Amino acid sequence: MIDTEGLTKRFGSAVAVDGVTLHVDQGEVFGFLGPNGAGKTTTVRMLACLVSKSSGRATIGGRDISSASDQPKIRKMIGLLTENVGLYEELSAYDNLDFYGRYYKLGEQERKERIGYLLKMLELWEKKDAAAGTFEGDEAEAGD
Ligand SMILES: Nc1ncnc2c1ncn2[C@@H]1O[C@H](COP(=O)(O)OP(=O)(O)O)[C@@H](O)[C@H]1O
Ligand SMILES: [Mg+2]
Repeated sequence: MIDTEGLTKRFGSAVAVDGVTLHVDQGEVFGFLGPNGAGKTTTVRMLACLVSKSSGRATIGGRDISSASDQPKIRKMIGLLTENVGLYEELSAYDNLDFYGRYYKLGEQERKERIGYLLKMLELWEKKDAAAGTFEGDEAEAGD
């Protein structure tokens, strides 16, 4: 499913990812551990086609991360939650979803329904008016 060989990323003269070779099978849960600054996030960003590689190669489901025609297909396959999820910390849980709903041009009624559905599913309905910055599991965390 995921195959990399000597995958490398340089930022200027700094080597952020130094020759990562790995193989992950379909359905496999793969833990990718390392100290802060080891290059985990940069590796994942390369695999998700968010940043280009410097050298080496990687394929996901047989699609090449450096092929312009494969990149959109790879992005479609991937759901990626990074350390920075892009919430507005001062806005409530409800208002964050409402903002993104408006951004995607959902009508008022549909926004209401989907926000209700999501917050209840996530057991956050009681906290819908709490500022997103007060929730656990985001911001100041250095790791992934
Ligand atoms: N956009 C960037 N520009 C320059 N250096 C970066 C950039 N992103 C990450 N780095 C550097 O690359 C190295 C690996 O970072 P990162 O992939 O975030 O590691 P990890 O996720 O394992 O903590 C670090 O030294 C970091 O400072
Ligand atoms: Mg990281």
